[in-house]
Amino acid sequence: MEKGTTVTIRPARNILGSLRVPGDKSISHRYAMLAALANGTSRFDNFAPGADCQSTLSCVASLGCKIERDEKGTVVIDGLGPQLQAPTAALDCGNSGSTMRMLSGILAGQSFASELIGDASLSRRPMKRIVEPLTQMGADIRTVSGECAPLKIQGARLRGIEYRPAVSSAQVKSCVLFAGLLAEGSTRVEEPVRTRDHGELALRAFGAEVEREKGSVIIRGGQTLRPLEASVPGDISSAAFFLCAAAIFSDSNLVIDGVLLNPTRSALLDVLTAMGSRISMLRVEESHGELVGTVSLVAGQGGPLVIAGAMTARLIDELPVLAAVAPYTAGGLEVRDARELRVKESDRLSAVTTNLRAMGATVDEREDGWKIAGRQSLHGAEIQAFDDHRIAMAFAIAALKAEGETLIHGTDCVAISYPSFFQDLEKLVER
Ligand code: S3P
Repeated sequence: MEKGTTVTIRPARNILGSLRVPGDKSISHRYAMLAALANGTSRFDNFAPGADCQSTLSCVASLGCKIERDEKGTVVIDGLGPQLQAPTAALDCGNSGSTMRMLSGILAGQSFASELIGDASLSRRPMKRIVEPLTQMGADIRTVSGECAPLKIQGARLRGIEYRPAVSSAQVKSCVLFAGLLAEGSTRVEEPVRTRDHGELALRAFGAEVEREKGSVIIRGGQTLRPLEASVPGDISSAAFFLCAAAIFSDSNLVIDGVLLNPTRSALLDVLTAMGSRISMLRVEESHGELVGTVSLVAGQGGPLVIAGAMTARLIDELPVLAAVAPYTAGGLEVRDARELRVKESDRLSAVTTNLRAMGATVDEREDGWKIAGRQSLHGAEIQAFDDHRIAMAFAIAALKAEGETLIHGTDCVAISYPSFFQDLEKLVER
């Protein structure tokens, strides 16, 4: 990736048009990992194009699976079944927390030792949340200071456990379920707050039986996976940037086709509706358990909004862009219970505050969120991406309604999830 690119964003008059967004990152990671464990060849169209999912593919290739990828976004993976091949070097997860945390569940159940490494940001992120359950299942995992990567994993014959994670995290849930698939007996993960369910849906799509019982998910170990052919739905967390942009211009009209509408991921649509937008969903279909459809948005004015508790968990990746546009809304935004944002690719609470203040906004940052008043006017400024794709994209959106030009430094990181983001944004912007 090119380092340090600066992009200039000029103010816009409106957001108009229709678009498809790249394949969903969360689903692409899981499909690639489970394809490795399936007996036979899987094929995925519209596989997520970003560097994060490429990290997963590279790791899967290092574990002995043959992978082909074409320019149209189709990925073909030859699975090896439950036992993969020992890698000859450390597995590089790049910037991707999903790769490191979920792949650890699979590596814990292998008969070999492996090492997972990542970039500077990933090497600071908390890993105890997966080390704890995998150790209980029988794996031996060494970390730096009991918490951080590099992770050295000695695989083992795992045993099923009953686990209640201390933090609500879909990555941890998937990690434990993937290990559970390779373990003896049953594994139950109890969720304090319901998180995205792509791990469960993907396991079922590959032929495994997974049960949901009240707040728990249960998998029986020793089940074999069959290969899958699927098209990955458009990433709603990528669509979120354009939806939020459309929501702040009174004459906007935006249509996004083929986008993921899984209810554990689509809370943004409820929030934008509460903020006054008129949203419709058309042609909704199911694809391997995931809902997919077309979303259209026409802007309007709404009231103040408070996001807390379970709602915060459901919106975790959309909060930076919601906060970045909050000063332009009529009612403003308060976010609580979002401490997890401090341990994402950057400290997202502080990154958003710093950048909003640079643009002249008044922001009250708390330990677990922000309070941001509505009806504020922002001005163009010099913005830092903090090596975080979602911060770079969130402020490209905030800049559209600021007075004067905004320079966003370090935009190369958008390649983590959405390499063509700036080109796609330009297609929708009217000046
Ligand atoms: C993800 C879960 C979330 C999210 C991340 C992707 C997933 O992380 O922030 O971008 O695919 O399961 P946590 O589970 O750690 O909250």
